[in-house]
Amino acid sequence: MLNIVLFGPPGAGKGTQAARLVDKYNLVHLSTGDIFRANIKGETELGKLAKQYIDKGELVPDEVTIGMLESEVEKNKDAKGFIFDGFPRTTVQAEALEKFLKQKGTEVTVMLALDVPEDELVKRILLRAKDSGRADDADESIIRNRIKVYNTHTAVVADYYDAKNKFKQINGVGSIDEISERLYNAIDNQ
Ligand code: C5P
Ligand code: MG
Repeated sequence: MLNIVLFGPPGAGKGTQAARLVDKYNLVHLSTGDIFRANIKGETELGKLAKQYIDKGELVPDEVTIGMLESEVEKNKDAKGFIFDGFPRTTVQAEALEKFLKQKGTEVTVMLALDVPEDELVKRILLRAKDSGRADDADESIIRNRIKVYNTHTAVVADYYDAKNKFKQINGVGSIDEISERLYNAIDNQ
C-alpha cells in the first residue's frame, strides 16, 4: 500500500494537492476536516461536537478524531492506499495511526510536508473564504489561532516521521502544477 500523510499548516494546499494525488496514484482521500464539515452539515452528534472546536480554530479531542479516522479506513477495505489530509494533527494521533495501520499489516509510507510562509497562508485562506463558505476561513483572528494551534501542537508531528526517516519537506509556494510535480517526484523517488 501507498499511504501518504499530506502535512502542512492550514492553507498550505493539502486539499488541492490531495485531489491530484488521489487520481494519479489511485488512492482514497481521507480529509478529517472535510469529514467533520460533512457531519456539521448533516447535524450529526459528531458534527455538533466538532463544531464547538472548529468554530474557534481549536482541535477536536484526539479520541474523537482517531475513532472517526479509523472507522473511515475500515469503510475502504479495497483501497490501494490512503492520503491522510489534516491527520495526524498531534503526536497522540500519529501514534494511534501507526498502531492501527500495523494491525492492518501496513504503515505510513511517507509524510510530505508543504512548506508555506505564514503571511501567504493568511492571504490564501482569506481568498478561499470567498468560495469555501467556511466561517473559520473568513475571520482573520480564527485563522491566526489555527496557525498558532498548528505551531504549538501539530508542527512537532513532523519530528515523529523524521525520526523514522519518513519525512520529506516540499516547497509549497508556486503554481499548483509546479507543486504537484514536486510531490510526484518525492513519491516516485523514495
Ligand atoms: O484540515 P482542516 O483545515 O480542514 O481542518 C479544519 C478544522 O477541523 C481544524 O481547524 C480543526 O478545528 C478541526 N480538525 C481537528 N483535528 C483534525 C483535523 C481537523 O480538530 N485532525
Ligand atoms: Mg483542507
